[in-house]
Amino acid sequence: MCSIRSVITGIGASLPKKYLTNFDLAEKMDTSDEWITKRTGIKRRYVAGEGETTASLATKAALSAIAHAKVSPRDIDLIIVATVSGDYIFPATAALVQRELEIRENCVAFDIGAACSGFIFAIDMADSYLKLGKAKCALVIGAETFSRLLDWNDRSTSILFGDGAGAVVLQALPYDTAVTASSMQPGIQFCRIYSDGMYADALKTSGGVSTTSSSGFVQMDGRCVFKNAIEKFNEMLTCAMEDNGLTIDDIDLIIPHQANVRIIEKLIENFGISRDKVLITVDKHANTSAASIPLSFNEVRDIVFSGKNVILLSMGAGFTWGYVFVKM
Ligand code: COA
Repeated sequence: MCSIRSVITGIGASLPKKYLTNFDLAEKMDTSDEWITKRTGIKRRYVAGEGETTASLATKAALSAIAHAKVSPRDIDLIIVATVSGDYIFPATAALVQRELEIRENCVAFDIGAACSGFIFAIDMADSYLKLGKAKCALVIGAETFSRLLDWNDRSTSILFGDGAGAVVLQALPYDTAVTASSMQPGIQFCRIYSDGMYADALKTSGGVSTTSSSGFVQMDGRCVFKNAIEKFNEMLTCAMEDNGLTIDDIDLIIPHQANVRIIEKLIENFGISRDKVLITVDKHANTSAASIPLSFNEVRDIVFSGKNVILLSMGAGFTWGYVFVKM
């Protein structure tokens, strides 16, 4: 067994100042609160305004997580920002966060792009760095300004997404030798991440630097994504239970990627899970891509640090999908 465990010690989040309700959207396009609520569960989405960027939201979320963890920015030696809507093509948004936090030495900062699964991919990577002894205190951030990738004339995609950022501090700690070997100690217990590029066209932007010299807009085969999201959530929750010898009763909280309440309700129905064990925040934030899971996590940060067994589940463009099982 690895002698180091990576433990989540702080959680934070940040949202833009302004949000748009479904009623606001109905004034701009041919849609309604009734349609959006019934098909998606979304009631509002935050939209970045002037001066608000992915890096500024990420930095605020990071500062909140750092304060919550009671560490100093100087302790951070790894920053991973999961995003597909960074401030620039380069440098990495993580480098901008590093500059804002004034961390000059002994710190590596980079971005990863796995769309809505980005935060799970970033946790998996940070967990490996910590367990290999390559870092001691990681800042893992999911941050997006997806509103700037939307075609506001396309009602089938523009109603679904929002902006925001969430962050966790992950610290390398030794195992407590006073605790019996059979008891699970707080920390990341297991992660799995997957990709299948055969679905690359199902959810994508209509352009990119190397194809159109622009970012393009979000395009989606909604039904294909919907069907696959249900399948992947089922698959990952089954894997999480098998990998870790858990039953549904052993799990205290499931935090799925927040894209559509119907996808989450199908998971609840398929596994017969008690509704209060599954966090649903899509009504408040819409789909914030890589920020969605840490934004939800932040909603329970005052009650989750009590040894709770938490499963994070994701599915996103690529397709990409995965899970993290963490004992808090
Ligand atoms: N307001 C009103 N009507 C709308 C609309 C909107 N915002 N968007 C689409 N419609 C219309 C369509 O034009 C269509 O009309 P028609 O029957 O006259 O052609 C009708 O509603 C049904 O559209 P459809 O796309 O079949 O709806 P749906 O039940 O598949 O729901 C999504 C659409 C996008 C909500 C659903 O496919 C979805 O949630 N997919 C997954 C999205 C997701 O999770 N993406 C991110 C994953 S990381």
